Amino acid sequence: MADGNSETKSSNQMWGGRFASGPDAIMEEINASIGFDKKLYAQDIRGSIAHATMLAHQGIISADDKDKIVHGLNTILSEIESGSFEFSRRLEDIHMNIEARLATLIGPAAGRLHTARSRNDQVALDFRLWVKEELQRTEKALTALIAAFLDRAEEHADTVMPGFTHLQTAQPVTFGHHCMAYVEMFGRDRSRVRHAIEHMDESPIGAAALAGTGFPIDRHMTAKALGFGGPTRNSIDTVSDRDFALEFLSMASITATHLSRLAEEIVIWSTPQFGFIRLSDAFSTGSSIMPQKKNPDAAELVRAKTGRINGSLIALLTVMKGLPLAYSKDMQEDKEQVFDSAESLELAIAAMTGMVRDMTIRSDRMKAAAGSGYSTATDLADWLVREAGLPFRDAHHVTGRAVALAEQKGCDLADLSLADLQSIYADITEKVFDVLTVEASVASRTSFGGTAPNEVRKQIAWWRARN
Ligand code: ARG
Repeated sequence: MADGNSETKSSNQMWGGRFASGPDAIMEEINASIGFDKKLYAQDIRGSIAHATMLAHQGIISADDKDKIVHGLNTILSEIESGSFEFSRRLEDIHMNIEARLATLIGPAAGRLHTARSRNDQVALDFRLWVKEELQRTEKALTALIAAFLDRAEEHADTVMPGFTHLQTAQPVTFGHHCMAYVEMFGRDRSRVRHAIEHMDESPIGAAALAGTGFPIDRHMTAKALGFGGPTRNSIDTVSDRDFALEFLSMASITATHLSRLAEEIVIWSTPQFGFIRLSDAFSTGSSIMPQKKNPDAAELVRAKTGRINGSLIALLTVMKGLPLAYSKDMQEDKEQVFDSAESLELAIAAMTGMVRDMTIRSDRMKAAAGSGYSTATDLADWLVREAGLPFRDAHHVTGRAVALAEQKGCDLADLSLADLQSIYADITEKVFDVLTVEASVASRTSFGGTAPNEVRKQIAWWRARN
């Protein structure tokens, strides 16, 4: 990254005596995090203002110095936001960049800001604040995705489609029921987001380097000012762990895995062979050579982002697994994984919400497919149990013979004549045809959480009351 100001001090010069010369270029390159941690500028400034205010309140610095510091930090905030701030790689990270600029702006009072804190608790604070805010954005995004599914489910509570196991036609279900499966998955993802927010709702600032400080600080005051439930309880743990980042990445990986399965279904459903859905032009692309093509690129990219996000989780787990307590510089490698995953996840959820809202459901195609593949065979077996008193295993066998006969005749189960069915099992009556249609099949599955349209409507109402 460009070092706009050649007169900028290096971080070694900033902490003085022990270091005679500036860092070697390669050292500077491997050490610097400003290229990515500048993303934390707002959290860093917010944390510093809370810290300085507390220091003044406790009589550790003067009110006058505090005013200068707060004013200077607010100036820096607007400089960064207007794009006029010059970031310097020689100053390593966001913390040193801001502190150095503060010194230029307000002089010696800037040097008092770092009393009773270290970059170790500072970075733990900044990053935690950032992750917490990102989780709040994720919660909103998931709520929008769930809302999109609830609308489609309501619209299609009666639309029959084949339900699959092993991607082979299993039993008819409704498209509304299938949509609600995703509502359950994304609903659990959203609970994971909420739990993660609760877990990280403790303020790190004041843990200092690792051991706390002898200055009479008030960590409850800074925790409150920064919107945390309270301060963390162990200063060593505070600067050592990054489980809040790992929790973010775990949640992101699980959510992305759900998104990826949905993406895969969208890819399959939008093929001409399935033809269950038509994607809107907004979420598909054409081919540069084949004029007939409409490709589900957005779904494919959502599927691919999952690989990236899973990779980030494994990367950070691996960074952390061998570190002795407390802080090690290895931990600087936490941020890019989280930033990259956050960006990928946000994009993937937004793209999926758009696709779900916009896609055309081809109910006729779904219905035709729902009836093929002897999807109501279980209904025939259940009828034999209920109406003819057969044990299920025998009913299964009789039904298997009916399927074989239909296959031989090249027709569906419902197209067999009563005489055909009676040739297999004499006690079958005309009434059996009531259960062999796909509509009758789905309507009969009224068990709690089952696919019957009225059951699905109940579940939609349950979620509507909570979304
Ligand atoms: N840039 C560092 C990081 O992200 C800040 C903390 C540096 N602390 C230290 N003791 N060197 O981890």
